[in-house]
Amino acid sequence: SLISLVLVFLSYLLGSVSFAVVVSRAMGLKDPRSYGSKNPGATNVLRTGNKVAAALTLLGDAAKGWLATFAAAYAAEQWNLPWFCVAACAVAVFLGHVFPVFLKFKGGKGVATALGVLLALNPWLALATVGTWLIIVYVSRYSSLASIIAAIFAPLYYLLGGNVAWPLDPAIAFAIVIISVVLLFRHQANISRLMTGKESRIGSKK
Ligand code: G3P
Repeated sequence: SLISLVLVFLSYLLGSVSFAVVVSRAMGLKDPRSYGSKNPGATNVLRTGNKVAAALTLLGDAAKGWLATFAAAYAAEQWNLPWFCVAACAVAVFLGHVFPVFLKFKGGKGVATALGVLLALNPWLALATVGTWLIIVYVSRYSSLASIIAAIFAPLYYLLGGNVAWPLDPAIAFAIVIISVVLLFRHQANISRLMTGKESRIGSKK
């Protein structure tokens, strides 16, 4: 329907707002695309040493993923839209972050935005995924490795908890798989740095 198309488009536009770039600009910091991994994301903003800026980036990028998905779910209930519309908005806000129209389609890796999406879909699913991320970060100090492992586990958690902890929806399952696969593809440079021992750890000076 037209409403669904408009919602998907708005989700993509919202996803295109890169909080790493917006927050850095607002706080007078360097553009995150110019240092470290060059990635406009919370992990890279943290490399400036500004924890507040990194936290605001994480919060903003997660909030937009949450908002687009939550709004779509609300609209779906209100206007009896197919649940497929919610899945499409979840993918759209994520893809907006990764391929933002405002940044010549060169965006981030989508970790925070995916988290916001999961939170809107089901808080327990988000909690399990964040827990996984935190454990790997705690053990390894690699943000990227934690994101990679969490991205592998999130779809598994969704399927395992399906019809037990939450209703299993094929469109939502498909959305989570797409998001995870794109997220993993966005970590190719991280994967080669991890394999050659060149990845920077959280809190390290490099
Ligand atoms: O948030 C993305 C994270 O998984 C890796 O970021 O800057 O180390 O490539 P970065």
